[in-house]
Amino acid sequence: MIQRTLALIKPDAVKSNYIGSIINIAEKSGLKVVALQMFHFTQKQARGFYAVHEGKHFFDGLLQYITESPLVAIVFEGEDAVTSWRNLMGATDPQKAAEGTIRKLYAESMTRNSVHGSDSVENAEIEINYVFGGRYINGLA
Ligand code: CMP
Repeated sequence: MIQRTLALIKPDAVKSNYIGSIINIAEKSGLKVVALQMFHFTQKQARGFYAVHEGKHFFDGLLQYITESPLVAIVFEGEDAVTSWRNLMGATDPQKAAEGTIRKLYAESMTRNSVHGSDSVENAEIEINYVFGGRYINGLA
């Protein structure tokens, strides 16, 4: 089924000049960029985006990291986009990520893990709305 998912290219990957390489991996696999923006999360925005992780032991470090510099948000569209993108990302812990995955190639650690991907179609819709709001997305009014 054709789906949309929200991807983030996080601060570590942006700083290390991996934006193009990461988008290239997605495009080569058949995912299409239908919206894209670079921005800097405020503390408040980051707290809202990661609200499900509030209270977890890594939450403060996650907020510090995700707000340290600009990141890139992308809406990918394609066949089973949610799972396809998560497969391309690899496991959260880069040491456990499979060969050839984005995290195996580029991630620095469990927190500084280069990319994010929605974990379900429902959360993809919530996250896309959170980041892109009413702004234009290719194919949507
Ligand atoms: P992401 O897929 O964006 O969703 C939550 C983020 O929290 C995750 O990527 C990591 O950056 C971070 N994270 C998740 N689990 C841990 C953990 N056990 N230790 C440190 N950071 C984590």
